[in-house]
Parts: sequence; C-alpha cells; structure tokens
Amino acid sequence: MGRAAGGRLSGWARAPGYEGRTPSATVHGVEVEIFINEVMVEALAGGSLAAWPDGAIVVKDGFMAGEPHIVVAMQKRGDAWFFAEYETSGEVVYSGDPHACTRCHDDGDDGILAFDLPR
Ligand code: HEC
Repeated sequence: MGRAAGGRLSGWARAPGYEGRTPSATVHGVEVEIFINEVMVEALAGGSLAAWPDGAIVVKDGFMAGEPHIVVAMQKRGDAWFFAEYETSGEVVYSGDPHACTRCHDDGDDGILAFDLPR
C-alpha cells in the first residue's frame, strides 16, 4: 500500500482503492481522498477480522470544484465509532454518534463503506 506523498496527511497511508483523489457519489464532495492510520494499516495486513480494532482512524477529505470542502473522520473507540465532521476552517459540524452519519455508515462493513474488513 502506498504512502500519501506530500499531502496534508503526509505519513498516513491511503485507504485501499483510494490511491489518489477519487470521484465520490456521496454527501462529502464530488471527489475524496481517504487516509488511514497505522492501526488500520495493520488491521488490513493481518488475518481475518470481524470488527475494526480500537484506535483505528479513517479521515476523508471532500473536494468540490477542486477545492477542499469538508473533512470527515471516524475513530474506533472500544466497540463504537466516534464520528466527526469539520469545515475547512476547523469548525466542528458534527461529532459523536450522530444519525447524520450512522444513517449511512450502519450499512458499512463494521461501519466502513469505502473498503471491507479482511476475511
Ligand atoms: C448519504 C450517506 C452518507 C452519510 C450521511 C455519511 N457518509 Fe460517510 N461515507 C459514505 C460513503 C458512500 C463513503 C465511501 C467513500 C465515498 O464514496 O466517498 C463514506 C466514507 C466515509 C469515510 C471514510 C471511511 C469509510 O467509511 O469509507 C469517513 C471517515 C466518513 N464517511 C465519515 C462520515 C461522517 C463523520 C459522517 C457524518 C457527519 C458521514 N460520513 C455521513 C456515505 C455517507
């Protein structure tokens, strides 16, 4: 898996299937970049999992007309995901476990929509 080269989250890995800026059909922008932390990298590289591990973090940058639009993040805390959405100014739009996020992410593979748990 490639490393993010020179991006804002340089040092983070890119999510599987999201090696660069990728078209998206959902609410966070017309294009997205998705980054994962080391806990997620190790989970993906390891054996079969039924759930993502505590401490896993996924961050998605959403772009509109080529410009940064929104930042969304998910962090696994114990058995639950903590969700957050930020304006590009840093202002928090949502945080915690809002229906605004879970209404879609409850359909994911243990919450994650962009890629699957290793099986
Ligand atoms: C309308 C459905 C929908 C809603 C509502 C939604 N998401 Fe997503 N989200 C998606 C889809 C689909 C993806 C997969 C990547 C893509 O297509 O952009 C995704 C991907 C993500 C990712 C990358 C990890 C993953 O699951 O693939 C994060 C982080 C994320 N969303 C955070 C949030 C947060 C935080 C909220 C609430 C503020 C939220 N999302 C609300 C549909 C949704």
